[in-house]
Amino acid sequence: MQQHFASDNYAGICPEATAALLEANTGHAPAYGDDDYTRKVSDRLRDIFETDCDVYFVFNGTAANSLALATLCQSYHSVICHQLAHVETDECGAPEFFSNGAKLLTIAGEQGRLTPEAITEVVTRRSDLHFPKPRGLTLTQTTEVGTLYQPDQVATIADTARQLGLRVHMDGARFANAVASLDVAPADITWRAGVDVLCFGGTKMGLPVGEAVVFFDRKLSEDFAWRCKQAGQLASKMRFLSAPWLGMLTDDVWLKHARHANAMAQRLSAGLVAAGIELLFPTEANGVFARLPAPVDAGLRAKGWRFYTFIGAGGARLMCGWDTLPATVDALLADIRALSGAADAL
Ligand SMILES: Cc1ncc(COP(=O)(O)O)c(C=O)c1O
Repeated sequence: MQQHFASDNYAGICPEATAALLEANTGHAPAYGDDDYTRKVSDRLRDIFETDCDVYFVFNGTAANSLALATLCQSYHSVICHQLAHVETDECGAPEFFSNGAKLLTIAGEQGRLTPEAITEVVTRRSDLHFPKPRGLTLTQTTEVGTLYQPDQVATIADTARQLGLRVHMDGARFANAVASLDVAPADITWRAGVDVLCFGGTKMGLPVGEAVVFFDRKLSEDFAWRCKQAGQLASKMRFLSAPWLGMLTDDVWLKHARHANAMAQRLSAGLVAAGIELLFPTEANGVFARLPAPVDAGLRAKGWRFYTFIGAGGARLMCGWDTLPATVDALLADIRALSGAADAL
């Protein structure tokens, strides 16, 4: 079966999550999250984050982000985000919908990162009542272009936000890849750095489905269960959403898989550079962004490879997952080298 680089959600369920899922499939258990699996995973997340956070499980990242952002603001508020942020480009207006109209205010930033200067500029630009009042900020870790915020960068941004009266949300669809790459305590790039709520991605790290919304500021999670229910995001058989996390969070399996995906991206990145292909961004986690010459792009697609070119700032996005094989990376590189050689000979 051919593997692909289109997205880390092309991969299947990792064995540890599968085992935990099957183990949960015995007998009856209370519904709607009142079960032992959900309690255990929530406690495990509290251990991992070294704090008494509030945890909810929803089906996907769009819901996690939108519902979490809605806790930060009223309908007349705004939320600052990067212009390439998934909440802005790929969530079909869900953040605005679930917040009853709060507006996303986008800003530019090198290599997918927000900067304190740009945040300050957009927040202080206007304070009149004709403009939606800035109240939230969201940053993505790892960013949409595969780069990372270092712990001090998260802290500086969150500090800027707090001084400007904004609450801080982190889109952690690839949080595992960030923790694995930075080799930091999860707390150091979240609540200790000033993040109020994290959407911790499960799907891309090898779960069948589901993301955890982790509230470090527990005041924000008041009534969150009702938001989830109203949005159709409260799983009745919650144990099947939560139990796979147990397999993932035991013995640092999540970090093992994320480290593997990151290593495959490094292998791919190095191979592309050796083949003379230009990288658009530094490879810091599990995504590689490259400028493929048109004949190479077309040739790869003709050979059946799948990858996206509409994400981020253009170019080809090549994502590695927990199951990406070194041989798959090498096969893609071999095709790229052959196609580049053929293009050069034209
Ligand atoms: C940065 C980011 N955030 C969130 C998501 C989650 O989106 P979905 O609603 O498809 O689970 C994705 C998935 O592509 C993503 O890349």
